[in-house]
Amino acid sequence: MEAKSPSESRTILTDLVLPSETNPLNNLFGGELLARMDRAASIAARRHSRRIVVTASVNHVAFNKAIPLGSVVTVEAVVSRAFKSSMEIYIDVWVEDRESGRRSKANEAIYTFVAVDETGTPIQIPALEPESELEKQRYEAALRRKQLSLVLAGKMKPKEATELKALFED
Ligand SMILES: CC(C)(COP(=O)(O)OP(=O)(O)OC[C@H]1O[C@@H](n2cnc3c(N)ncnc32)[C@H](O)[C@@H]1OP(=O)(O)O)[C@@H](O)C(=O)NCCC(=O)NCCS
Repeated sequence: MEAKSPSESRTILTDLVLPSETNPLNNLFGGELLARMDRAASIAARRHSRRIVVTASVNHVAFNKAIPLGSVVTVEAVVSRAFKSSMEIYIDVWVEDRESGRRSKANEAIYTFVAVDETGTPIQIPALEPESELEKQRYEAALRRKQLSLVLAGKMKPKEATELKALFED
């Protein structure tokens, strides 16, 4: 199976924040943003694997900045590392200033998707070859995040998480 580049999975969703999608402070409701990120991540995972994909875990979400009603929000998702059947998807969320058009980073998240066959059984996917410096950094750190996610899910013993343990040594 031929390795793919991150640009082959990059997915960009741009949409407005409407009144029905806000909380009582008139900012975007967190669950709405999670859904938009899940959709973009799902498309990125599908583009990388060309398979049916399911969300296995939401590894990290940071709601750093409130997103006001009427904002133009861009969700950018890209596969940051592919393992055997699972993929880490890195999501950056940007808000566009109405007057200047300049984009500022509002939030980010990391999801794990798994490619499955028609019976829901995990299936082998192509490797990912990072290109830019940022893609290489995210690729390198992805194994630690996978191990942390598996440990938290009770699917890996902490002593087996060698890459993660190395973070706390020396
Ligand atoms: C995701 C799912 C396919 C994993 O199945 P499983 O029986 O745990 O399969 P495996 O143990 O072989 O794991 C498959 C891959 O997922 C990874 N994985 C499983 N759980 C994970 C987690 N919590 N965090 C990170 N990776 C995880 C495994 O490490 C493995 O990766 P690899 O093949 O790249 O090494 C299965 O749990 C599932 O179908 N869940 C429901 C998905 C769904 O419906 N999502 C929508 C939510 S409403």
